[in-house]
Amino acid sequence: TVVRLEDYRPPAYLIDRVDLDVRLHPSATRVTAVLAIRPAEGTPAGTPLVLDGDGLRLEHLLLDGRSPEPEAYAASPVALTLHCPPAQPFRLEIETVINPEANSALMGLYRSSGTYCTQCEAEGFRRITYFLDRPDVLAVYTTRIEADRTEAPVLLGNGNPVEAGPIAGTERHYAIWHDPHPKPAYLFALVAGRLASVHDTFTTRSGRLVRLAIHVEPGKEDMCGWAMDSLKRSMAWDEHVFGLEYDLDVFNIVAVSDFNMGAMENKGLNIFNDKYVLADPETATDQDYGHVEAVIAHEYFHNWTGNRITCRDWFQLCLKEGLTVFRDQEFSSDMRSRPVKRIADVRMLKSHQFPEDAGPLAHPVRPRAYREINNFYTATVYEKGAEVVRMLKTLLGAEDFAAGMALYIRRHDGDAATIEQFLACFAEAGGRDLEQFALWYEQAGTPRLEVTSAHDPDTATLSLTLTQSLGPTPGQASKLPMLIPVRLGLIGPEGADIGLRPRERDRVQGDVLLLSERSQTFTFDGVTERPVLSLLRGFSAPVTVNATPSPADLLFLLQHDSDPFNRWQAAQDLATRELMRLYAARRKGDVLAVDAALVSALGDVLTDEDLDPAFRAQVLHLPGEADLARDIGRDVDPDAILSARTQLRHAIGRAHGQTFASLADRLGRRPFAPDAADAGERALKGLCLAYLAVSDQDTRADIIARHAREADNMTDRIAALSVLVHEHLAGADTALAAFERRHAGHPLAMDKWFTVQATSPHAGTLTIVDALTRHPAFDWTNPNRVRALVGAFTTGNQSQFTRPDGAGFVYLGDVVERLDQRNPQLAARLVSAFRSWQALEPKRAALAEGVLSKLAGRATLSKDTRDIVERCLA
Ligand code: ARG
Ligand code: ZN
Repeated sequence: TVVRLEDYRPPAYLIDRVDLDVRLHPSATRVTAVLAIRPAEGTPAGTPLVLDGDGLRLEHLLLDGRSPEPEAYAASPVALTLHCPPAQPFRLEIETVINPEANSALMGLYRSSGTYCTQCEAEGFRRITYFLDRPDVLAVYTTRIEADRTEAPVLLGNGNPVEAGPIAGTERHYAIWHDPHPKPAYLFALVAGRLASVHDTFTTRSGRLVRLAIHVEPGKEDMCGWAMDSLKRSMAWDEHVFGLEYDLDVFNIVAVSDFNMGAMENKGLNIFNDKYVLADPETATDQDYGHVEAVIAHEYFHNWTGNRITCRDWFQLCLKEGLTVFRDQEFSSDMRSRPVKRIADVRMLKSHQFPEDAGPLAHPVRPRAYREINNFYTATVYEKGAEVVRMLKTLLGAEDFAAGMALYIRRHDGDAATIEQFLACFAEAGGRDLEQFALWYEQAGTPRLEVTSAHDPDTATLSLTLTQSLGPTPGQASKLPMLIPVRLGLIGPEGADIGLRPRERDRVQGDVLLLSERSQTFTFDGVTERPVLSLLRGFSAPVTVNATPSPADLLFLLQHDSDPFNRWQAAQDLATRELMRLYAARRKGDVLAVDAALVSALGDVLTDEDLDPAFRAQVLHLPGEADLARDIGRDVDPDAILSARTQLRHAIGRAHGQTFASLADRLGRRPFAPDAADAGERALKGLCLAYLAVSDQDTRADIIARHAREADNMTDRIAALSVLVHEHLAGADTALAAFERRHAGHPLAMDKWFTVQATSPHAGTLTIVDALTRHPAFDWTNPNRVRALVGAFTTGNQSQFTRPDGAGFVYLGDVVERLDQRNPQLAARLVSAFRSWQALEPKRAALAEGVLSKLAGRATLSKDTRDIVERCLA
């Protein structure tokens, strides 16, 4: 069944209060829910009430304290229906019994390493009790949690703690939590277990003292410092930048090891995948530190953008996710280097979201239909959703954007809102019409921008013609032109920006051109000499640009652009062009010589001490195999991509071998600190090792092996190890064994060991991946393990996953079948690795299609996986 946006109807009944009593037991947890229900205004008397369920069994039912007649209601695993409920407010008491231990889908109430925890977004609450499980039904919750004292000494719920104590004459105890803020059921949470914790406090600017706690498995307390620090910085930042304060007396974070996603913003009780909480230099990389900081911030920021203002329905998911990603990106930019963060975010957008937009799974930022909402927690909703908010800020300017945000918060606090309501606040604050802009939420696909320019020295004018196009995507055959903000720089021959003097003043705002028609020409006066165009500065819109600048212009941009993002982009464009040339030749069986100008320009950046090391690392980091596949678009041969990329890497390594060796030796020698400056040095050092490995320095294998051996932090250790393994250098096996011994007891560190091996571009990798599934540290029931090994192979190892014999596809098909019944969400995520199959050359495409078709033929496939498989095939 398909759920459609246009079918949305407000709820016929509302639930004002929920009193839950949860008596925890590993296999038989008894849940009593007392619901204060009333008909919504205008609901005709006698309208049936249908509460959602998922795999539930009704034990008892009381309506206003009395057992209803058997013909007055119907209960099934998926619904509890009152055929003719009272026309006045009434009280429903529902008892269900559920089995947390048997819950392997990790939705609803489940156990992770003995800890009871919940995940209710999107539709998990209905696995706990019958409810109106939709985000526009907001209730005040009081939760009593009861458990065995030794099994679960810690009992946590939403909101503030009210009371707690032993239950006389038993081994059990209880705690009562009350959340005064009305919330939808997806934000409900409870946690109970034997957990250790670290504590701190934060005083809000209006003087509320908030007790902060992070709860983890005993023994992991020392790994919570960075998360706590990130939390406090997030709280201060949201006050400072958005004027948003925290609104409860406590804020609890819990780290669990079995979790389908990154984390969850349950009111006052955020539950995290432990990978985004735990960090110490021994086991976490700089990237992990960055992720912990960003995810802690993201979930905290949801308290306003998500919780205080929630979504009317799941089509509006981007209302909270796109906006909250934008907010966490801004937070990280303020904590670190803004240009480097922007480059990293755009890299991520282009490598994850652009392929999604270009394939069978493409969907609008606000989808109009879904079969399984869990499949829409996508790069499009999150990352493109954040880009749309960023464009809004670009269009309105910082001041009007801030006013729009303030209006949104003021007007909609306590609401379940829509994208239209969100946009209306900005339209009002900015005094403009956002109707065309709203198409960014409606039209799927990545717009393409063609740019041509003409300079006339006689009249000192430059004219620039921008043409946009957007191809068809599933369910959307033709598209309307979008409003695209194109930030532009004109750079004079000396390398300095020329002030813009546009003729079409109403179509240009500062340095932003407003492209709203299919094709538009912009004319600039006072341009005496031919300028070099710096287009789409800061990646001002999520589009692809086709501008065909000359190689000389790209080199000029790489050297002179005042916009660091476009300096990076110029290097990427140069590299992409060269790789495309090498690829095209290889497709015909030829091997061309590498362009020396590119290699030497990259060397200049490498040794430019005026540039931030993190930035230099980004410039030298070539476009990935998947990026190239996306640009090639059709008839893709992943082996030719790999060889082209390898060839260019070798050329760079050989040309600058000495420099790589000496930089690797010099950089990142301070004792570990997770700040951006040190992390940047380590990033550049790691990159130098990777190029050193393909240089002709005789001692390269020894140097890299020594780095792996002597590293005093995970960032350096894993960087060296992956170079040894991926380049098949002497010492790789020794280093793998040493890593394994060192980190045997630490699953998150062992995940990196799995990933390094799964992403090796060599022919034996699939066999190794399969063998590693029998390694004692591997566990099919843990999503992090599965993603680190199988997920890394299917999404991080293009040439081996798409092996010409189809074995990689068959393997993924088998894994999906094996996991699907136990954890549909995980299986559906994994199977999405097929999303670009149609772009492959015909032989591989046919093999991928065969596996997808076989999966589609399985009668027992979960709704989650079937949805992805069938969309991939459609
Ligand atoms: N709202 C969570 C976040 O911060 C994601 C939860 C998604 N969970 C799911 N089962 N689909 O982004
Ligand atoms: Zn989120």
